[in-house]
Amino acid sequence: MEIKLQPICRPSGSRVDFGAELSGIDVETMSDDEFHILRQALYENQVLVLRNQMSLSPRRQYELTRRFDPAAGVYSHGKSIDKRSVLHADLTTVPDQPQVQVIGHGFVKEYEGLSDVQLNHPHHKAFHKSPIPTDENEDFTHFYRWHIDSAMYDLDPPLVTSLLAVQVPKGRRQTCRYDDGTDATLEVPLGTTAFFSGYRLYEILSDEDKWFVRTSKVEYAPHPYIWMSKAKSRSNGLGIVSEGLELPDEEMPSFEASKIKTYPMAWKNPVTEKLAMMVYPTCVRKIHLENGEVLDNLPEIRERLYRLQRPGIDPCYIYPHDWEEGDLVLFNNHGVMHSIVGSFRDDEVRIFRQCNMAASRPPIGSTDCLSTI
Ligand SMILES: [Fe+2]
Repeated sequence: MEIKLQPICRPSGSRVDFGAELSGIDVETMSDDEFHILRQALYENQVLVLRNQMSLSPRRQYELTRRFDPAAGVYSHGKSIDKRSVLHADLTTVPDQPQVQVIGHGFVKEYEGLSDVQLNHPHHKAFHKSPIPTDENEDFTHFYRWHIDSAMYDLDPPLVTSLLAVQVPKGRRQTCRYDDGTDATLEVPLGTTAFFSGYRLYEILSDEDKWFVRTSKVEYAPHPYIWMSKAKSRSNGLGIVSEGLELPDEEMPSFEASKIKTYPMAWKNPVTEKLAMMVYPTCVRKIHLENGEVLDNLPEIRERLYRLQRPGIDPCYIYPHDWEEGDLVLFNNHGVMHSIVGSFRDDEVRIFRQCNMAASRPPIGSTDCLSTI
């Protein structure tokens, strides 16, 4: 079989410079040389689409995903997700493969050792401050939450996530509205996964902002998905509206200071060495400046990050994947951010499998030496 790599289909007007479709490699039997090609392709294109992978078992999906980080092993959010976490309702673990989650929408009678499962595709109305009015939900939607797959406490963000589309309701499209003071919209297939590139985001910053991003770090809240569980999102999914709804310390579960995550704002690609601005705005608590000063005024921090990140989600920079059953998408979770999109009807059943593992190392910062990675 000949190995082929071609850019993903981009709509006219798109300025997306990442994403490729790879064919000619059997991911279940590939040699180390073939895996090397796959890994290079992933880190050069950030999002890789492999078609017709329906027969991939959860075990094989786990093995493939782990090959990018052989020392990893625990699911990205740990062994179990706290019931108070906003993620709790969205994830169903495959019984024999705890690193693999079944996600999607609708009632599933039987799947991979699970029975009578009600899947729930997160609907933005549960998280956004100003959701789309109910009577417009059929046609319009919002980006749910731009994120990096990560617990952002105790565990490091997975290097790579794999997503397999098992069952996909087809035919409908929706208009994703930004509702952020601009009239920006993006036409998307129902239930798309949308991506933007942290490399492109970094590239379009001013020189002054690049310096700030290169030299500053962000500190994430302890147990961030519990901390922000009462807060509401901006309508474009890029961070939280500051209303003081984050849980006060006395309502938070206990935490260990040593497990709080502080990461550089710019993460280096291990193959191309390019820098990506990778900041998960929803979970940010503080900013550490180069001179040692720590910024902890949450509304101000959020405004500052929003000004930097908002240009990166302009419609021309978004790749909304049009899922086909059997698609396996692998993405560089240290180089792109992504969002769930869309609202399904109750009779629309969608089944996906997601696999990722907490990384064996933190993200590579702009000044880290790659030879030690
Ligand atoms: Fe995700």
